[in-house]
Amino acid sequence: MTSIYAENILQGKTMFIAGGSSGINLGIAEQYGKLGANVVILSRTQAKIDKAVEGLKSQGTNAIGIAADVRDYDAIEAAFKTAKDTYGTIDCVISGAAGNFLSPIVGLSSKGFQTVVDIDLVGTFNVFRASWDYLTKPGASLIAITAGQAVQPRPYQAHACAAKAGVNMLCKCLALEWGQAGVRVNAISPGPIEDTEGFSRLVPTSEIAEKTKKKIPMRAMGTKTNVADVATFLASDASTYVTGSIYNVDGGKELGDASYDFLTPFKR
Ligand code: HXC
Ligand code: NAP
Repeated sequence: MTSIYAENILQGKTMFIAGGSSGINLGIAEQYGKLGANVVILSRTQAKIDKAVEGLKSQGTNAIGIAADVRDYDAIEAAFKTAKDTYGTIDCVISGAAGNFLSPIVGLSSKGFQTVVDIDLVGTFNVFRASWDYLTKPGASLIAITAGQAVQPRPYQAHACAAKAGVNMLCKCLALEWGQAGVRVNAISPGPIEDTEGFSRLVPTSEIAEKTKKKIPMRAMGTKTNVADVATFLASDASTYVTGSIYNVDGGKELGDASYDFLTPFKR
């Protein structure tokens, strides 16, 4: 993964990345590390964490991993303490842990619905709320990883749609309250990002992938670098007056179905 940003743009900063052991969030961790930041990644599975930290260190990044579940507030608070004790500051927090699966509403138990809301929405509350005492104030940047499902209802994803809609509103409320402390809060809303767990769960066959691609205005799937580039902007001093915003990194997907040829005259 190569970056368009100048080397060392994030030198000396410490980034805490919940859900950072794989996929999009690990892509962000890798880019932050290459640009000079210390990286703390957190997720549930020790083996995934060990592999990710080993990869980060092999690229020359200062990195530690912490095993915890974002549904466990005390464990998240303890993780922030460890991160601050290790690196001295916490300048950026990513809330990217999520769980999703396809299920019609009638196939969904109350527990199934609640599980996704607990991980995505309550987890984001836990991560951001627990970060407060440890953040660099003023100056910290908080970034949630949301999804187009937050604003566009999709079949078989009522649980994720509801959870991510809550994430968007939570970010705006946090931005409203914490701006006066110099803490910025924004979100990134990725479209379908190739080579990720979410992509394989939501776009399970190449046939569905081709149909999806045709509907996207930019006619392409996204990459982890596409998301990391926007996450770098939001973590850097290039965005010090940006807060309460949701950045779509989705090739225009949220705008609607673009599966027509714009050069063909409209026929009534
Ligand atoms: C219906 C299901 C289900 C399914 C689980 N459940 N999978 N219901 N259809 N396919 C129900 C279970 O039956 C159970 O309810 C409840 O959910 C909890 O299940 P557990 O397996 O005990 O939960 P847990 O171990 O906490 O695992 C959470 C998980 C799992 C979300 C179910 O898939 C996970 O850990 N996912 C993390 C990785 C991931 O999803 N990555 C992709 C993120 S991508 P009952 O009533 O039976 O007890 C993403 C895409 C972006 O988010 C766009 C969307 C926003
Ligand atoms: P992923 O690789 O499965 O990433 C999810 C991460 O969260 C993993 O590191 C996972 O590690 C961790 N995690 C899950 N549940 C957790 C919990 N309860 N506590 C702590 N950590 C937990 O999936 P991804 O596709 O890259 O998705 C990353 C983010 O992008 C998510 O917020 C997702 O909603 C969003 N997104 C993805 C897409 C896409 O196309 N992939 C599109 C839109 C939005 P453990 O299993 O070790 O816990």
